Amino acid sequence: MKQRTRLFLKTEGCSIKSFFILFLTVMALSWSCGQTKAHDPLQKKTPVKETKEIEPVPEKLPEITIRNVTENPVTYKIKSSSDDKEPQRKTIQVGEVHHYPTREDMHVFFPRENLWIRYTLERGKPFSFRMDENNELELYIGSHGREDAVDLAPYVPTPLEVAETMLQMAGVNENDVVYDIGCGDGRILVMAAKRFGAMGVGIELDPERLKEARLNAQKAGVEERIEFRQEDAAKSDYSEATVVTMYLLPESNELLRPILEAQLKDGARVVSHNYDIIGWKDRETGYQTVETWNGEEHSIYLYKK
Ligand SMILES: C[S@@+](CC[C@H](N)C(=O)[O-])C[C@H]1O[C@@H](n2cnc3c(N)ncnc32)[C@H](O)[C@@H]1O
Repeated sequence: MKQRTRLFLKTEGCSIKSFFILFLTVMALSWSCGQTKAHDPLQKKTPVKETKEIEPVPEKLPEITIRNVTENPVTYKIKSSSDDKEPQRKTIQVGEVHHYPTREDMHVFFPRENLWIRYTLERGKPFSFRMDENNELELYIGSHGREDAVDLAPYVPTPLEVAETMLQMAGVNENDVVYDIGCGDGRILVMAAKRFGAMGVGIELDPERLKEARLNAQKAGVEERIEFRQEDAAKSDYSEATVVTMYLLPESNELLRPILEAQLKDGARVVSHNYDIIGWKDRETGYQTVETWNGEEHSIYLYKK
């Protein structure tokens, strides 16, 4: 019995001690855990989750652009179509481009003789002041509003019957590489590849036109024969061309003439729709007119380097 009590006591004593040790251990551990946590460098590095407000991405408004392609500064007035305020007066220098980001169409006023001519400009579209055939100031639709590239001509497609005559006059065949300067929807090159067996390179700045051109080449099954390049035609390399086709404004032909003179191989042919190349009279080897279904007469000029 004594034995048992002792044993019991002993056991009891041991149990209290153990409990005490265990208590101390738990306390020490939880203290040390707290300490470790507080000094954990990783914890310091853990980024604090911030609830930042996301800034809205500013909406890119479509732009109306106005370029001055005349040889003099032009003063004009402009206002939003819904605006009751007086229009703003602006002067645009030669070669300059004015940008108007806007959700609306705009009214523009420019002087001709003693009158202010008023036009409504469609939002998102490029325009250019040019002199018309009577040497009067006129505002034309342009092809792009980029400051880093010349605007050679607005997009107006060559009628297919005119394109066909252009390629026939140039005698295009399967040995040719035809470059179309400002290729638009690619119709001249697609015809050159499909019907005349030539290879083609289309140079165009307008991405929408290039999309159409690539699709048209695909539909005609000649996408392997034509390369479309998005670049400024005034900075392109024409040294590989055997035939060049163009349908551009007269001043653009004038601008490109020295580039073509410097780069084209001897014997290369140049076909121009509607406008001749001033200064190349001695190179002219052909001229034809084509009347289209609506009675319009189109001129075609052929030159040989
Ligand atoms: C009158 S269209 C001729 C389209 C096509 N060659 C045809 O005859 O059907 C002129 C084209 O030149 C493009 N263009 C204007 N300036 C250009 C530039 N600097 N570089 C390349 N293309 C340009 C326009 O976007 C437009 O598509």
